[in-house]
Amino acid sequence: MEKFVPVVVIKELSETDKILTALKNNGINTAEITFRTACAAEAIEYACKNYPDMSIGAGTVINAEQCEAALAAGAQFIVSPGLSVSVAKICNERNIPYYPGCVTPTEIMQALELGITTVKFFPANIYGGLKALKALAAPFPQIKFIPTGGVDRSNIDEFLAFDKIAAIGGSFFVKEALDKMEEK
Ligand code: 3PG
Repeated sequence: MEKFVPVVVIKELSETDKILTALKNNGINTAEITFRTACAAEAIEYACKNYPDMSIGAGTVINAEQCEAALAAGAQFIVSPGLSVSVAKICNERNIPYYPGCVTPTEIMQALELGITTVKFFPANIYGGLKALKALAAPFPQIKFIPTGGVDRSNIDEFLAFDKIAAIGGSFFVKEALDKMEEK
């Protein structure tokens, strides 16, 4: 997976081009389009069709129904704020990467039982940031993390320096890309 996973909230389908173009122009070829808005599935379908060189996934997927909708739309990976066993099973069956939110040893053990070795650490800032992540990583050498939530330019480098980081997630990538595009 790529190192940066922008958390994308698309309120209107018409915003999709602007956001994805801004990300691409900023060197980012991944987008986690969140199931927090009514047009999420439609936006994923549009993005997969029109940005075939990007890795388009679905975020904030909290149940099997949303997971099915995301996969039908073409999502190439699934992210959840927590761990859903039903979502994990669907993704396992279809060979789709699933990154569930895990912040406790019990959740990580459950992820491992489901065959998952990369988890989202969310909300990273509230659950103790890098210090907590390092402590959590110690007993699970096979696990990699995607810290998300409260990660931004001010602390991204310290996370990136830790070798158990698979990628960094965050909405700030979108804001940064749009701001840069606006400056031009
Ligand atoms: C998410 O769903 O992953 C978070 O809302 C992202 O958190 P951030 O806005 O602090 O990056």
